[in-house]
Amino acid sequence: MDDTTSKLAFDTDWQYDPAPESTDHVRVDDQYELFIGGEFVAPKEGRYFDSINPANEQVLARIASAGKDDVDRAVKAARKAYETSWSKLKPAERGKYIYRIARVIQERAREFSVIESLDGGKPIRESRDIDIPLAAAHFFYYAGWADKLEYAFPGKQVAALGVAGQIIPWNFPLLMAAWKIAPALACGNTVVLKPAETTPLTALKLAEVIRDAGLPPGVVNIVTGAGDTGAALVDHPDIDKIAFTGSTAVGRLIQNSQAGTSTIYTLELGGKAANIVFDDAAIDQAVEGIVNGIFFNQGHVCCAGSRLLVQESVADEVVQKLKDRMETLIVGDPLDKNTDIGAINSAAQLEKIESYLQLGQDEGGEMYQASGSVPERGYWCRPTLFTGVSQSNRVVQEEIFGPVLAVQTFRTEQEGLDKANNTPYGLSGGVWTDKGAKIFRIAQGLRAGVIWANTFNKFDPASPFGGYKESGVGHEGGLHGLDAYVSLA
Ligand code: NAI
Ligand code: MG
Repeated sequence: MDDTTSKLAFDTDWQYDPAPESTDHVRVDDQYELFIGGEFVAPKEGRYFDSINPANEQVLARIASAGKDDVDRAVKAARKAYETSWSKLKPAERGKYIYRIARVIQERAREFSVIESLDGGKPIRESRDIDIPLAAAHFFYYAGWADKLEYAFPGKQVAALGVAGQIIPWNFPLLMAAWKIAPALACGNTVVLKPAETTPLTALKLAEVIRDAGLPPGVVNIVTGAGDTGAALVDHPDIDKIAFTGSTAVGRLIQNSQAGTSTIYTLELGGKAANIVFDDAAIDQAVEGIVNGIFFNQGHVCCAGSRLLVQESVADEVVQKLKDRMETLIVGDPLDKNTDIGAINSAAQLEKIESYLQLGQDEGGEMYQASGSVPERGYWCRPTLFTGVSQSNRVVQEEIFGPVLAVQTFRTEQEGLDKANNTPYGLSGGVWTDKGAKIFRIAQGLRAGVIWANTFNKFDPASPFGGYKESGVGHEGGLHGLDAYVSLA
């Protein structure tokens, strides 16, 4: 880019007019109870917590906190539903219920999108165009498998596992609920789901949908609460399968607690994915892909492209174009349709991100942040990149889970691959080049579960998702996602 064009980009001090999504059609109650056995019930110990809107720190609703007894009640309801109704239903009938859930989510998509953005801080563009449509798509996809399991596992006797305990994080609240619930139900299991404490609202709305769709009581139970509620679910003796998505630290706790038991578990944990950009790549497209991979959705994505490995000969050009593009990103009101980067999900997460910004500089990295304004109230982080960092730096090795990109260079293909693989994680990766053969070589060499070529963060219910090393155990999505909810003989 020559000087005149780059100057043009910055001399414009005009702003987009606000384009807020309306909230008129959305109903958020003051208080939400636990969804157990097909009805909303108060928690035994009477404890509640607040879910706030991270964009303005205001309380959205009071949420029931499930104690051990409540979790036990939910597991019993799920067990009863498994034994008396769900496992006895014809598979095609199970499919019909799951289709119904998918259709209602589609019908109420606007409401779900707005609530997702209010409760979690993600831009409405993301929740409207990605989270909610994909959640519906997962229910549609797995509804289709319900009566075709014999084709999924030819020559095998397929049986459900029983009761699944499912724990999900706050970065894709409804979508993670769909990833967990849809395949479990399709295979004939019943579930107890625990949403994250900062983003329980769309799961509770989903409970309403499930009730209205007429599912037999107890097939899906939703217990809200924090880590102790999750631990009570994991430790419950009558759970046949645990599915967890969240931090590697909690994943490890779960793994240890299950050692020596017969419970089956899948863990989707962290990541530190690299986008590898070669000098023969379409540079502008690559820059857009990098921005999409780490800055949209505040970097709250386990498969985020939080590292950039760029071939030395194009490094200056790519970094300059990235910085220019970062200047144009709008950080602010999640409900504004122009917003690129919404609110950081919680005060705790913002604190964690900020500690990494300090650490990166202490380690000798050069930090660059976009200069745009951020709102006064709420939790915000400007898009940030670090150059001059090396492989041993913690900002290169550890999952930050914020809009923070660590940039390194490489000369040869092998060096790029070695650097990409040199972290404890292996969830995803990206490669940018116009050579098909190089794409295949890199894809084979990367120790990562999902690899995108000349694109990033694309999802489809039919493709499996899962990681190597500390990124987890097992797969979700596609045919592989069924595998995690059946026993085969
Ligand atoms: P977390 O792992 O504590 O939370 C995820 C879920 O696990 C929540 O529903 C939480 O209530 C539950 N949980 C917490 N402790 C538990 C326990 N002992 N037993 C059972 N369930 C438990 O993650 P947190 O603290 O929200 O975020 C910390 C870091 O984890 C983030 O900064 C990020 O690096 C990573 N993370 C990764 C995610 C991913 O998708 N891979 C999602 C969320 C966070
Ligand atoms: Mg919230």
